[in-house]
Amino acid sequence: MEQIHYDELWIEPLTKRHELISFDSNNSELNDFLKNDAFGDQENMTSRTYLCFWDKSIAGYLTLVADTLEVEAVDKSDKIDGYPYRKYPAIKIARLAVDRRLEKRGVGRYILLAAIGKAISVSNDIGCRYITVDSKPESTVFYDKHNFKMVEKYRHSEFPKMYLNMYPIVATMRTKESLKQFEN
Ligand SMILES: CC(C)(COP(=O)(O)OP(=O)(O)OC[C@H]1O[C@@H](n2cnc3c(N)ncnc32)[C@H](O)[C@@H]1OP(=O)(O)O)[C@@H](O)C(=O)NCCC(=O)NCCS
Repeated sequence: MEQIHYDELWIEPLTKRHELISFDSNNSELNDFLKNDAFGDQENMTSRTYLCFWDKSIAGYLTLVADTLEVEAVDKSDKIDGYPYRKYPAIKIARLAVDRRLEKRGVGRYILLAAIGKAISVSNDIGCRYITVDSKPESTVFYDKHNFKMVEKYRHSEFPKMYLNMYPIVATMRTKESLKQFEN
């Protein structure tokens, strides 16, 4: 299947005016959440949902919540020396789904990049270093391809926990920003 160009996709925060009925991913729990619970949870301030559009229809969606990640769950290379608490601040991908008619065309990656962008943006205002996800077993390869690491202790659980350390991404952005001063 042909990949969808990123300039044909866009993200909108969920509102009560959005028409959700036609969305159909391969996971009925994810379909039900979007149609029945996402807006109510958002009103209750327990999650925030973003819709991804292509060609005027919903191609996928993303739900984000605040989270923490146990220090002991993180690889040594992702830890902070001398960090004094038991948990790091994180943002969780609580739900991510692509319409089954558009799978494997790059929509999931586009939504994941949007999630990383939003989490980095949040980290400019509120301390937050990791993105977490309780992956479906069949989706761990998708997250693995985008540099998420498996938390070993949850590898064999129903929803294996994975995380992305945003620090290296932000460090590269900072370096690029500081190099700009040398540009003409
Ligand atoms: C998992 C999901 C979000 C992937 O979305 P998608 O739009 O099909 O993925 P993309 O086309 O952006 O794929 C990006 C890369 O991941 C790979 N990939 C995607 N889904 C994969 C899967 N289930 N297993 C292995 N690789 C997968 C693609 O092959 C592609 O790799 P490539 O760049 O090397 O070709 C989508 O299949 C989905 O909604 N599934 C049902 C719900 C679900 O499991 N959500 C995850 C909740 S934790």
